[in-house]
Amino acid sequence: MEKNFKRTLITTALPYANGPVHIGHLAGVYVPADIYARYLRLRGEDVIMIGGSDEHGVPITLRARKEGITPQQVVDRYHTIIKDSLEELGVSFDIYSRTTSAIHHDTASEFFRHLYDKGEFTVMTEEQPYDEATGEFLADRYVVGTCPRCGNENAYGDQCEKCGSTLSVSELINPRSAMTGLPVKMKPTTHWYLPLDKWEPALRSWILDGHKEWKTNVYGQCKSWLDGGLQPRAVSRDLKWGVPVPVEGAEGKVLYVWFDAPIGYISNTKELLPDSWEKYWKDPETRIINFIGKDNIVFHCIVFPAMLMAYGDGFQLPENVPANEFLNLEGDKISTSRNWAVWLHEYLKEFPGKQDVLRYVLTANAPETKDNDFTWADFQARNNNELVAVLGNFVNRAVVLTHKYFGGVIPAPGADTQAETELWAEVARLKEAVSESLDNFRFREALKEAMDMARAGNKYLQDTEPWKVAKTDMARTATILYNALNLCANLAIVFEPFLPFSADRLAKMVGLNEMSWNILGDRTLLHPEGKVAAAELLFDKIEDDAVAAQLKKLSDAREANKIAAWRPEPQAADVDIDTFGLCDLRVGTVVECEKVPKADKLLRFLIDDGMEKRTIVSGIAKYYNPEELVGRQVCFIANLPPRKLRGITSQGMILSVVNSDGSLVLLQPSAEVAPGSKIG
Ligand code: MF3
Ligand code: ZN
Repeated sequence: MEKNFKRTLITTALPYANGPVHIGHLAGVYVPADIYARYLRLRGEDVIMIGGSDEHGVPITLRARKEGITPQQVVDRYHTIIKDSLEELGVSFDIYSRTTSAIHHDTASEFFRHLYDKGEFTVMTEEQPYDEATGEFLADRYVVGTCPRCGNENAYGDQCEKCGSTLSVSELINPRSAMTGLPVKMKPTTHWYLPLDKWEPALRSWILDGHKEWKTNVYGQCKSWLDGGLQPRAVSRDLKWGVPVPVEGAEGKVLYVWFDAPIGYISNTKELLPDSWEKYWKDPETRIINFIGKDNIVFHCIVFPAMLMAYGDGFQLPENVPANEFLNLEGDKISTSRNWAVWLHEYLKEFPGKQDVLRYVLTANAPETKDNDFTWADFQARNNNELVAVLGNFVNRAVVLTHKYFGGVIPAPGADTQAETELWAEVARLKEAVSESLDNFRFREALKEAMDMARAGNKYLQDTEPWKVAKTDMARTATILYNALNLCANLAIVFEPFLPFSADRLAKMVGLNEMSWNILGDRTLLHPEGKVAAAELLFDKIEDDAVAAQLKKLSDAREANKIAAWRPEPQAADVDIDTFGLCDLRVGTVVECEKVPKADKLLRFLIDDGMEKRTIVSGIAKYYNPEELVGRQVCFIANLPPRKLRGITSQGMILSVVNSDGSLVLLQPSAEVAPGSKIG
């Protein structure tokens, strides 16, 4: 850090309150932000971490309509789930508020009005899609139509979810209202625009010249936006849900959600610190850091800074915006609507007490420089091979041996040998490395370096073998365990930002009372005669069945998506009645039915067709037990040429239906009929 800052304001992207948060949000934003905040607090710095729910926007109103409740009810439900689950994960917000609060409405409204009064907006009237039945203008999301690229008939006005292309309403074929299904009309409407082009030179020099140290993914995205040229952006919408535009003649219009949401950072700071919030926003000695995901870069690096510059009055721009890439889940993009996610509130229920395991895995595998994949196999492996086998194992050995040889009392050390000198030199080196990584937002590297400190502990015990030394030399055993316990105390500190729950338990176990980054590396944190508590395992193994249960949940979600996406096949080409008549369709009664040996799909039927008994082989063994079919009536085609299947001659084909999940269902007449009766 070249500049000297007095305090840090950490903001975390406000999650939309139209669903719970999932591991993608956590890995991208909340876990790294929390690590950073805890690290700075341990260093004794003045830091506040701001969060809250983003409660406006079209998706929330869509969800409310779908469920037949009000938008307020939607956001109340999810705000509570999000707030409680983030808190339970140990995300140490100084405030987690919401954009439906009165203080936010006032702050956002005043912000708009100030820009309006300063003449910072331009006004434009444009044709927008309109639903005549409801008398409402339609946001892009409310317009559906046929995708010009792939023919999907249910593409949205902003994107086609089938082929993934970004669309505009004007590109949709036969655009209709998602609310009423009626064709949309175009109607002129007036909106306020922030002329981003005006701020382009200032943004260029601030980012492109002034912040070359930003992460390359962030800097690169900013550069390509700026090089592409900035256009005025509408900051109002024709909607009922949101912060009303505080201008006469703007009835029925609200602030665009991306205008009001980042102001939420300011509102929430005000709510937290009514008297001193301004120094966190307007003092050049405050360092503002925005933690976000990559889809938010343009809003945080271009749009919101332009808003702040337009406002003036000393508002500071962010010092850094360490945006992350995306986390995928088992090879697929995380999706709220397809339920392809690991939801935090569910994880907390299904893995009670394992907050740190999730924090660990999401940090070790954080999508810092590229998209990454979360897999349950990796989750299990990192828990079992790293948390249990490295960190947990070291701590456990140090504490158990202290109980075994010294009755749980920290023994007094004797002189160092080379092993101690090396150990503490390594700790000192790692303290520098972790600090430097954290200062530069390289959290996965920092975590690996912290883990190396625990590895150094295991190596120390492996090299010094106190369990052998104890047979002959208690003084030396005392030295070893004294050093091992002091390393435990250091581990409690270095892991506090990453694994706060375990760090706290560890500190209590070895009797460390003070946690501070400044004392990290001190080899005399614990004093002889101090007591260690009974050994308890910091982590336990995650068994295969827990992983299998999670994979089952995901495969169920995949199945449910397939069924939800199912559409009947398009109708076949016309056929004349005489051609149809050529098929001899009949009903028969099942006399015998059995599995075909060594063929898991096939059943052999013996059918009474009214004339004789005929054999038919049918591929429905996965869906029926042969015994339950004997005596039932089935429909079959009688006049197919005989065909050999697995050595059996099949005389016809039994008719079945292919259901939406791909399963087969036999056709059966609704009343018993004479065997051999014709279908037609
Ligand atoms: N709700 C937005 C999202 O989930 C993020 C808003 S960040 C804020 O993508 F700055 F606008 F608050
Ligand atoms: Zn498409």
